Amino acid sequence: MAYNQILPDDTGKEHIIEIKDLCKSFDGTQVLKDITFYIRNNEFITLLGPSGCGKSTTLRIIAGFETADSGIVNFEGEDLLKVPAHKRNINTVFQRYALFPHLDVFDNVAFGLKIKKVPKKEIEQRVNTALAKVGLADYGERYIDQLSGGQMQRVAIARAIVNRPRILLLDEPLGALDLKMRKEMQIELKQMQRDLGITFVYVTHDQEEALTMSDTIIVMKDGVIQQIGTPIDVYNEPKNAYVADFIGESNIVPGTMKKDFEVTFSDGITFTCVDPLFPEFTEGEDNDVDMVIRPEDFYVSDEAEGRINGTVESIVFKGVHYEILVKSDNGIVWMVHNVDPVKIGQRVGLYVDPDDIQIMRKSEMSPEKGSYGIKKPAGQEGDAEKDSADTTAETDGGADV
Ligand SMILES: Nc1ncnc2c1ncn2[C@@H]1O[C@H](COP(=O)(O)OP(=O)(O)OP(=O)(O)O)[C@@H](O)[C@H]1O
Ligand SMILES: [Mg+2]
Repeated sequence: MAYNQILPDDTGKEHIIEIKDLCKSFDGTQVLKDITFYIRNNEFITLLGPSGCGKSTTLRIIAGFETADSGIVNFEGEDLLKVPAHKRNINTVFQRYALFPHLDVFDNVAFGLKIKKVPKKEIEQRVNTALAKVGLADYGERYIDQLSGGQMQRVAIARAIVNRPRILLLDEPLGALDLKMRKEMQIELKQMQRDLGITFVYVTHDQEEALTMSDTIIVMKDGVIQQIGTPIDVYNEPKNAYVADFIGESNIVPGTMKKDFEVTFSDGITFTCVDPLFPEFTEGEDNDVDMVIRPEDFYVSDEAEGRINGTVESIVFKGVHYEILVKSDNGIVWMVHNVDPVKIGQRVGLYVDPDDIQIMRKSEMSPEKGSYGIKKPAGQEGDAEKDSADTTAETDGGADV
């Protein structure tokens, strides 16, 4: 290993950044609480969480625009907090990219190099390379107000990569773009990161964006890391009800486990699962858990024994699938995705494979009642920009066939 690492990692890969027990308060309010994670070389890592959870503060401390109260930030094994911002081999792209409207694209990208008094020939070569990398090779002479939002975004990235940073920090860089442009730029940015071979640290509150682009996602809430993992990990194996709810659509209901591989929902129905009891649980007792079932993991069939039976409450066509709410006989509402339509009022049976039931420890974020569409505990509303009104609104049978 080239440099000293302080955080364990069984893959043996190099950590370009290591952050340990990072704390930060503003005016007596702690906004970062013992933040600990590492960033591997050439990784696309995303800090994901709702507004105010501390994403930008973490990024600003890495960039050197903000100081830490306590904790360690190492860059290639060296203490980064001692290095002034302008000497860090790190560049930032912000949501408001603050391009100079009175300069053309070339001069916007060249600006920092000119200040550093880099020789003219080298500036020309580096700016042209950077513009080519972001797909703007022929745009050097354009003025900023003659560009689309996506092109401005690319100029901002060119301006950052022209400095040849080891790490690029991106704070909601697609926030100003419309949805279609956002989706295009997500794919382009990911491609750019692979081509450039630079480590990207990305900040967003958009879970879909995080799932699409990242190698690793760090889910944050109130200055605390809730889970670190690959997009597949955090989606399929959320650590707690908060992560399950924030990442994608999910049914989260309380349940109990008496023994390994068996969970009883609040419905009173027992299902086989693939999780053993947690070590702190007592066999034979009703140990409280939360369980998650993703809407797409349900099979819809006729009413039958041993399944969740219920009545279709609403159905909305979503393009590839129908989004269906099924109210089970004791009142729990389940969100189900199905490729075939059903009728409102129809009696159905729901089935789920054991490995599609995810068992989690109870947490402060556990749902009070555990039913889709029922009000969540305070603080969760609107977090994931979920359009819950959309999922319950259409009960008039518009998609009923
Ligand atoms: N300079 C500051 N002075 C006082 N409070 C601050 C300052 N900067 C951030 N905060 C507070 O710290 C908390 C975390 O802010 P931060 O900007 O890191 O959140 P964020 O996760 O980036 O949110 P958003 O998604 O809205 O950008 C917020 O409560 C914010 O009000
Ligand atoms: Mg922010």
